[in-house]
Amino acid sequence: MSRISEKARIGSKTSVGEYCVIEDDVVIGDNCQIGHHVIIRSGTRIGEGVRIDDHASIGKMPMSAANSAVTKETELEPCSIGDHCLIGASVVVYAGSTIGEGVLVADLASIREHVSIGDKTIIGRGVSIENMCTIGQYCKLETNTYITAYSKLEDYVFVAPGVLTSNDNYLGRTEERFKHFKGVTVRIGGRLGVGSIILPGREIEPDAVVAAGAVLTKNAPANSIVAGVPAREMKRVPDEQKLDRQGWID
Ligand SMILES: CC(C)(COP(=O)(O)OP(=O)(O)OC[C@H]1O[C@@H](n2cnc3c(N)ncnc32)[C@H](O)[C@@H]1OP(=O)(O)O)[C@@H](O)C(=O)NCCC(=O)NCCS
Repeated sequence: MSRISEKARIGSKTSVGEYCVIEDDVVIGDNCQIGHHVIIRSGTRIGEGVRIDDHASIGKMPMSAANSAVTKETELEPCSIGDHCLIGASVVVYAGSTIGEGVLVADLASIREHVSIGDKTIIGRGVSIENMCTIGQYCKLETNTYITAYSKLEDYVFVAPGVLTSNDNYLGRTEERFKHFKGVTVRIGGRLGVGSIILPGREIEPDAVVAAGAVLTKNAPANSIVAGVPAREMKRVPDEQKLDRQGWID
């Protein structure tokens, strides 16, 4: 049996599984499938044709540790999920986040507050996106990638499995660190190879590639492939791999 608030609006042909909790003022569109044990917090907006799998938690309120230097309590808008999204099992999406249309979020992914995700993007299994991040349209973030807070990924960005990003060069020490705290930026068409590491504030310029296992200590110039520890330019992106040669964009 599920507990669905009388103040929630559930669209036609939408099914809700067993042991779900749907709180006040939630709006769910038509033709959705909500699995078992799904929690949907107050005010969450879910579009049409959305599938949410078992044990997902949508609209979760952030937790601020007593000694957290970074996470501040703020008023959050309810979470919003666009039409035709697929949300996997045990996914957690926090309040204050906006997911566009046709987005796939695979099992066990975590999307923090103040995150926006553009249409048709794929968030892989176990991916963690910290607070205050913007992810563009048609991006692919593969399994177990970590996107640090205050990062920006533009459209058509590809992030291979196990990529790690960082935002604090002072590793949690000194007051000075707050002046320099900065996430990473990946410009349109940027690609990050498997297991690469991006240091705080670095930028991957349009269509640049960071090779597998590289540590990015300087910005990656547009259309370059950078590799190694520390990463150095090894060659240019071959013309046939360039984003504007793929037939995806006008
Ligand atoms: C950078 C990359 C694109 C280069 O591919 P390539 O042009 O086919 O390169 P090659 O394999 O011919 O290697 C050329 C040279 O670069 C070196 N090299 C290749 N990849 C490297 C890497 N990731 N880091 C450091 N050196 C590398 C090779 O050892 C070789 O050196 P050598 O000439 O001294 O023998 C590729 O190695 C890579 O990192 N791909 C990313 C894979 C990935 O993450 N995919 C994600 C989806 S799973």
